[in-house]
Amino acid sequence: MGRIAYVNGRFVPHAEAFVHIEDRGYQLADAVYEVWALFGGKLADAEGHFVRLERSLSELQIDMPMSRAALTTVLREAVRRNRVTEGLVYLQVSRGVAPRDHAFPNPPVRPAVVITVSRVDRAASEARAAKGVGVVTTLETRWGRCDIKTVGLLPNALAKQKARAAGAVEAWFVDELGLVTEGASSNAWIVDQDGVLRTRDTNANILRGVTRHTLIDVIREAGLKLEERPFTPDEARSAKEAFITGAGTIVLPVTSVDGKPVGEGGVGPIAAKLRRLYIERAKARAI
Ligand code: PDD
Repeated sequence: MGRIAYVNGRFVPHAEAFVHIEDRGYQLADAVYEVWALFGGKLADAEGHFVRLERSLSELQIDMPMSRAALTTVLREAVRRNRVTEGLVYLQVSRGVAPRDHAFPNPPVRPAVVITVSRVDRAASEARAAKGVGVVTTLETRWGRCDIKTVGLLPNALAKQKARAAGAVEAWFVDELGLVTEGASSNAWIVDQDGVLRTRDTNANILRGVTRHTLIDVIREAGLKLEERPFTPDEARSAKEAFITGAGTIVLPVTSVDGKPVGEGGVGPIAAKLRRLYIERAKARAI
């Protein structure tokens, strides 16, 4: 059975799923998105992603296209029709379709909604997590509202390409003070030499990662120490461990930064444990 996408109220074959050329998401990146991990066919961290979706939309003065309950039903139906149990659900909401004009259409138009579902090979993800990945650093060039999850991802795409060209999996943005902000599609963490976990605080210009948020609960429950403050690439290399978090990567150990090893260059016990604890919790609470 082929893939099915949801486009503005209809489920259609993926190959025939199109948006209009004057969709403001396409022309102006005037759109937001969310990504849920799927465990056993259920949405992980569902609430956190809904809360952030509502906030992103509200910051851009776009109406929720439907109630949270209706959206949950549609997301689940998309998952069911694709017969995916382990994967990712992608939702995009644009301001809608209107003749090109930078200012908002007046009167407002209906938001445009797209949902796709993709499969994840969990065995391959686990193998990758057991080995660890490399990251490269790149200058922070993004706008000042990275807390809004918009589809304006060109700097992220360029950063990710830089990583890929270097044989790495993620790029970490570094600000003018030399501090890591976050990854191109993940939040960045280290475990320092005293065993204290560190990730940048959300007053900084970063996305408030849902995985990050849940992992903070996991860390507290595990009795580990956490500091929400930034670190430099050098501090990451001299840390015991480093890792990234996100709906796509879950908790993924980082073993090198710009080609130089983090700590002793292997996957550390804390990242491995946090990955396991996060997955257990996400599975137990998925809806
Ligand atoms: N990315 N930072 C950025 C810039 C991101 O794009 C993401 C998520 C995260 C982690 O957020 P969360 O834990 O809520 O997934 C942090 C998604 C997965 C993506 O773009 O595909």
